[in-house]
Amino acid sequence: ASEETLVLIKPDGVARGLTGQILARIEQKGYELVDIRKLTPSRDVLAQHYAEHEGKPFYEPLVEFMMSGDVVAVRVAGNRVIEGFRSLAGATEPTTAAPGTIRGDLGRDWGLKVQQNLVHGSDSPESAARELALWFD
Ligand code: CMP
Repeated sequence: ASEETLVLIKPDGVARGLTGQILARIEQKGYELVDIRKLTPSRDVLAQHYAEHEGKPFYEPLVEFMMSGDVVAVRVAGNRVIEGFRSLAGATEPTTAAPGTIRGDLGRDWGLKVQQNLVHGSDSPESAARELALWFD
C-alpha cells in the first residue's frame, strides 16, 4: 500500500553537491517527491529526531555533524517506500554498503567518530509518522 517516509540528505551529501543525484535515484525508483525543504536543523529538532540514540557514544558527534550545514528534508511517497528507500540507501557504513546503493556508490569513509553516510530514511511506519511531523509541520 502507498505510504510516506522521511528522507534526509545529510550535510555531507548537500555539501558534496549530491542532492540532485540522490533525488534522481528516488524518482527513478518510481517514488514521488511530495514535499522538500532545505534547512540547517536546530539542536532541538535533532534531539527529538535522534531521541532513541541519546547516550550512545556517537550521539553528540552525530548531532554536531547534522547541525554543521544545510540538510534537505524530503517527504517521499510510494508503495512500501519505507523499506524500499532503506534498500536504495544501503547499509549504514559506506565501506560495507553494497555497490548500487546510495551509500555504496557515493558514500565515503572519513575515519571519523560518526558515520557520515549521506542520507537518512525512516525505519518504520511509526518513525515515519513521527519524523514527518517533526520536519514538516
Ligand atoms: P541514521 O540511520 O540516519 O541514524 C543514526 C545515525 O548514527 C546513522 O544514520 C549514522 O550516521 C550514525 N551511526 C549509527 N551507528 C553508528 C556507529 N556505530 N558509529 C558511528 N555512527 C553511527
